[in-house]
Amino acid sequence: MDTPKDIWHFARPLLARQYLGEFDLGLISARALFAKRRMGKSTFLERDLIPAARQAGYMTPYLNLWTATHTPAQALLRVVSAAVAPKGWPKVLKHLKGVKSVKTSAALKGIVEGKLEVEWEGLAAAVAAPLLGDLLDELPSRQRMLLVLDEAQVLARPEHSELAHSLRANLDSRKPSIKVIFAGSSEVTLRQMFGRVREPFYNWAPLTPFPLLGQEFVHALTKLVNGLSRYPLTERETLDAFEALGRTPEFFRLYLNRYLAYASQGSAAALAHTRGEVYNDTSLHRTWRELPPLDRAILQLIARGVTDVFSAAVRRQLGKGLGAPAPSVGIVQKAIGRLTRGEILVRVERGEYQVQDDVFLEWLKRPT
Ligand SMILES: Nc1ncnc2c1ncn2[C@@H]1O[C@H](COP(=O)(O)OP(=O)(O)OP(=O)(O)O)[C@@H](O)[C@H]1O
Ligand SMILES: [Mg+2]
Repeated sequence: MDTPKDIWHFARPLLARQYLGEFDLGLISARALFAKRRMGKSTFLERDLIPAARQAGYMTPYLNLWTATHTPAQALLRVVSAAVAPKGWPKVLKHLKGVKSVKTSAALKGIVEGKLEVEWEGLAAAVAAPLLGDLLDELPSRQRMLLVLDEAQVLARPEHSELAHSLRANLDSRKPSIKVIFAGSSEVTLRQMFGRVREPFYNWAPLTPFPLLGQEFVHALTKLVNGLSRYPLTERETLDAFEALGRTPEFFRLYLNRYLAYASQGSAAALAHTRGEVYNDTSLHRTWRELPPLDRAILQLIARGVTDVFSAAVRRQLGKGLGAPAPSVGIVQKAIGRLTRGEILVRVERGEYQVQDDVFLEWLKRPT
């Protein structure tokens, strides 16, 4: 996974070393990190943590579960196998042939015969999960692995409960050699995942906030811009802009980009332009347009702070807004189900939901 160099990347070697150091100490073998969307989690994992872990001799399978919400078990198998592969496919394949619990599906045969990666997704989930265990068994006992699961909250979905249980069992017995980083943007869901007794990952990893980028990041990027532009930016200007953009690194970069293209217009103009762009994103409009009217009405109420969405009073209000009779609890539940599956809402308590993305929330609350 050699990514081209990004001169705007603000490296965080100390943070990477800190997480790896904890694993070296051995008191914990997993950690879960949360931060809101676009705050730099994946960037840190892919550009800082994983390269540092590789240097330290870890195999580093990485999976962003958002790219695999339908077939997470297969995707997991794919990334782990890709990480293991260079070190010994022949042995693994020989083993797979011998695995009796596995029905020799056409897909599996394809894999064994060497038509690898692409075929993993075709496996049945029931086969993929035990195969993962087999694969991990093939690792030499001294080989360390850092499994990085991004958007880990996907594992908390009821339909993936079986996978979560088997994954936990697989990891449990291999704690000395396999370390795990879970990351995600939904604090509420991650809290449930690691904090509820009934959940497979209960107390399995300490859950902590991912340290956000701040002044040093702004300072470093400001210096870079000033090296490129005839119109230097002051530290005050860029810090204010970072603040005005919700301390979001992605938006801050958009602002710098705009500034570099129109520097003579000044910082304030670049900021205004960026804010307009970010908080008026057409993709928000599109998401919005594609929602059924009831879902929209529910979202609007939640954005304005309504908590008990199933109550008779709220349902009456919904009906009134839509010019229809009050929807039943079941109908509201269906709408909420659509919105949570779409990662738009996240459940806090029964009846209480939050809009997951701050930018969408801002947009919903805008005066109309
Ligand atoms: N260390 C960094 N240096 C420079 N730019 C960064 C850094 N971290 C993040 N960014 C910028 O912010 C953008 C979003 O970061 P990233 O995708 O890592 O966030 P995330 O927290 O994983 O978001 P999401 O929850 O939406 O997946 C990056 O594409 C990049 O432009
Ligand atoms: Mg990410």
